Amino acid sequence: MSRPRLAVFASGTGSNFMAIAKATRDGGLDADLALLFCDQPHAPVLKRAAELGVASRCFSPAEYESRAGYEGRLRDLLVDQRIDGVALAGYMRIIGQPLLDSYPGRILNIHPSLLPAFPGRHAIAEAYAAGATETGVTVHFIDAGVDTGPIIAQRSVPLIPGESLEGLTARVHRVEHELYPEVLQQVMGGKSE
Ligand code: GRF
Repeated sequence: MSRPRLAVFASGTGSNFMAIAKATRDGGLDADLALLFCDQPHAPVLKRAAELGVASRCFSPAEYESRAGYEGRLRDLLVDQRIDGVALAGYMRIIGQPLLDSYPGRILNIHPSLLPAFPGRHAIAEAYAAGATETGVTVHFIDAGVDTGPIIAQRSVPLIPGESLEGLTARVHRVEHELYPEVLQQVMGGKSE
């Protein structure tokens, strides 16, 4: 059986993309990282993909007349590339119905909080500002909402009194980089359609 072909969607830095790429190479994740899709032409993640020799594509909704046009092009790209599953990793858009319908139960997202607490873009800073005693990381299947959909795994990160926001952020990201490849392996590792 061939290894499943995984795509990562990202819009920014790409540290989770790097962690996933590493796991596909060192044996932790039994899948081929076949594609990076990025909607931001200047995002650092594109350079990281080029350095690793991972194929990438970049286009944005602004290039299309409608959101459906953009989504349809994305779906065609995934089908052309024979992608089995998608890992969202800092992809700053919601996924529309054409993709949800084409990849049911095969699009995952990672979020830096213990959902449903602190959804949205500033999850780590909000947990820090709220004086929470713990935050963490969630990996979930996506649905049409923002940071909603069935939760697959969560890992807690306790706050340390007196720690800076930067320190907490670094610890949350380290947990993301461990948890996401592990969950991807559980959900789709070794299994292709
Ligand atoms: C991560 O914290 C992820 O949980 C969130 O966006 C961030 C992306 O970081 N969805 P990176 O681009 O993978 O470094």
